[in-house]
Amino acid sequence: MPTAIITGITGQDGSYLAELLLQKGYHVIGVARRSSTVNYERIQHFVDDITIVQGDLQDQGSLLSLLEEYKPTEVYNLAAQSFVPTSWNQPALTGDVTALGVTRMLEAIRFVNPKIRFYQASSSEMFGKVLEVPQNENTPFYPRSPYGVAKVYGHWITVNYRESFNMFATSGILFNHESPRRGMEFVTRKISNAVTGIKLGKMKELRLGNLEAQRDWGFAGDYVEAMWLMLQQDHPDNYVIGTGETHAVREFCEIAFSHVDLDYKDYVVMDEKFYRPAEVDLLISDPSKARMQLKWEPAVSFKELVTMMVDADLARLKKQ
Ligand code: NAP
Ligand code: GDD
Repeated sequence: MPTAIITGITGQDGSYLAELLLQKGYHVIGVARRSSTVNYERIQHFVDDITIVQGDLQDQGSLLSLLEEYKPTEVYNLAAQSFVPTSWNQPALTGDVTALGVTRMLEAIRFVNPKIRFYQASSSEMFGKVLEVPQNENTPFYPRSPYGVAKVYGHWITVNYRESFNMFATSGILFNHESPRRGMEFVTRKISNAVTGIKLGKMKELRLGNLEAQRDWGFAGDYVEAMWLMLQQDHPDNYVIGTGETHAVREFCEIAFSHVDLDYKDYVVMDEKFYRPAEVDLLISDPSKARMQLKWEPAVSFKELVTMMVDADLARLKKQ
């Protein structure tokens, strides 16, 4: 039975990746940081099938000891301070977790067993003020937030350990991926939650920032398959994962509201509070390398993603 360690097990991607690896017969070790109350909401339905271990990307010793104890063949580093606006309020913490945390895990692997295969969760946010459209593995980076800057560091330290120590260190440059398990503060979930709240008479309006920002949005369940495929290749590499389509926040609103027979123009209010000091205006992937080498294709379309999220929030809110 192969053993995989997932950092960020309590997050959106951690939950989908754990489900996938369980289906494939892995022993899954999920790393969760200590908190005063447990936050297993996303993993509650399979928590008895995995092993949860306390660990923190800010603590080198915890990473060393969990590798020594569980002897994984694969490590998926999904943990991060992942919310872009927070990275302006807590830039040093973001750098410590999202950037230096990657080095701490790579160092732990190098000391304990350099043959462990490592996946780093890199981000399209690294492309920022894009220097090329669409963006591929060779597009230069121009990050626009402390989060994006930290992810650029995480990407390059992964490449550097691959080249310096011949480690199987792979970087997946993933474009935005969403799901009914997405955190509430991210724009897609904020919209799907508000649409259903408004439909059920529990909310009156939805306050948003930049409606013209464009993202290449896919379904998280599809994207964790790409992570696994990357670690099954003969050699470590960098891969861009996305749909190759881009849509504006406004379009997401249109589809989400019209799915429940409402017009977004009656409810969406622009609020400067949600504008960012520096914005990433346009992200669109060129995932042809992943298509060719990994034989990876996204299965869920943009419209299916929006309606899936609205339907899931409707079902949840109706239950409440
Ligand atoms: P998420 O839902 O925000 O999950 C982040 C996870 O990291 C949570 O489990 C969180 O634990 C954990 N974490 C935060 N700080 C930690 C620390 N110091 N030590 C250990 N764990 C810590 O993020 P996601 O959407 O699943 O994304 C997964 C990864 O992919 C992240 O690295 C993100 O930056 C990257 N990424 C995401 C996307 C996307 O569109 N979703 C795109 C590209 C890249 P708590 O539950 O305790 O907070
Ligand atoms: N969060 C949020 N809230 N975003 C808003 C709002 C709002 O009220 N109104 C407009 N937006 C716009 C933001 O300005 C941004 O351009 C876009 O919606 C998407 O914002 P988020 O959903 O917060 O995601 P993100 O693109 O900044 O970051 C996500 O994707 C990255 C990959 O590109 C995160 O998952 C990152 O961790 C990930 O790396």
